[in-house]
Amino acid sequence: MKITYKDFTENFTDQELAETKILAHTSVNGRSKDINLFLDKLDLAGTCVEIGTYRGVSATILTSYFDKVYTFDIAEQKVKYKVWERMDVLDKIESYVLPSRGHIRTKLHELKLKINFVFIDGRHTFWDAGSDYLMCAELGCQVFVFHDCNKKHPLLVSLMKILGGTIYENLFGYIKL
Ligand SMILES: C[S@@+](CC[C@H](N)C(=O)[O-])C[C@H]1O[C@@H](n2cnc3c(N)ncnc32)[C@H](O)[C@@H]1O
Repeated sequence: MKITYKDFTENFTDQELAETKILAHTSVNGRSKDINLFLDKLDLAGTCVEIGTYRGVSATILTSYFDKVYTFDIAEQKVKYKVWERMDVLDKIESYVLPSRGHIRTKLHELKLKINFVFIDGRHTFWDAGSDYLMCAELGCQVFVFHDCNKKHPLLVSLMKILGGTIYENLFGYIKL
């Protein structure tokens, strides 16, 4: 069964949700918009790389679609381990907190993964999202989803235009090479 945002509200008490703020970043215009609604439309399998782990919510959801999720961040948010344990997905996630994109790139090369899909949700600037894209394209990945491609991040919208991507639901930038 696929994990959705709703499952977090069922597995954590209201107090825990308020204290950990694990769902605080998931609302769009004040309403939760499940990333599943978009992911369900794609044909997904194999290995996923996520750039931008934060508190581990999207990584948890991505485990429903892939054998393994490798997720990378430059800042530690310890609550994510509690989230993954509670949601019973610890064994499907490999998580790295590294000081910079350069270190992430080196680690990705060391891991020698065959990457089927990348979820790009790090810093939402033209330069950062573009660099994350190039870093993974260089490793042979051909399918990319960029989160938060909307007017809040107009340069992500420009990046999609330049890269020939398509924006769905005013939220997801999608590129298939
Ligand atoms: C929007 S949050 C990610 C939310 C998460 N994907 C989710 O939906 O649950 C952005 C995260 O990207 C991280 N970040 C910023 N720059 C980064 C970089 N160069 N590489 C990896 N992560 C980065 C931040 O530390 C932050 O945790």
